[in-house]
Amino acid sequence: MKTLTINRQQRELDSPDDTPLLWVLRDELGLTGTKYGCGKALCGVCTVLVDGAPRRACITPLAALDKHAVTTIEGADSKVARAVIEAWTALDVAQCGYCQSGQIMAATALLESNRRPSDADINAAMDAILCRCATYVRIRAAIHAAAEALA
Ligand code: FES
Ligand code: FES
Repeated sequence: MKTLTINRQQRELDSPDDTPLLWVLRDELGLTGTKYGCGKALCGVCTVLVDGAPRRACITPLAALDKHAVTTIEGADSKVARAVIEAWTALDVAQCGYCQSGQIMAATALLESNRRPSDADINAAMDAILCRCATYVRIRAAIHAAAEALA
């Protein structure tokens, strides 16, 4: 049995220790905003926050999360997350949308630790999350817009 806080709610989970967090979120808890892409830590679309830091849910086993806090797109309602989502909406960032929950979670983590990121900071933080629709330019603009709104 593992005890996790998921989107501020405590959950007791008894899946096998090696069950990937992504399976728990989507199949056990119905939190389908976090997407499955490669399943091998290559695309980043499954990115969620664990104790505020970006983590790939597809390769994070349940055993590593006991007593830790997970935030998914469904629970992204901090001040910073709201600013990010508002900027995403204002700049119409998403195209097909498939990668965007991972992008928003990573952008939120970046702005939580760096309120005035440079283009290089943004590239470094967001580089490993792939977007098949190539929305990268709008993602960077939205992160700058969110930073402005939070200033
Ligand atoms: S689905 Fe997790 S990194 Fe691709
Ligand atoms: S918006 Fe389509 S994959 Fe990123």
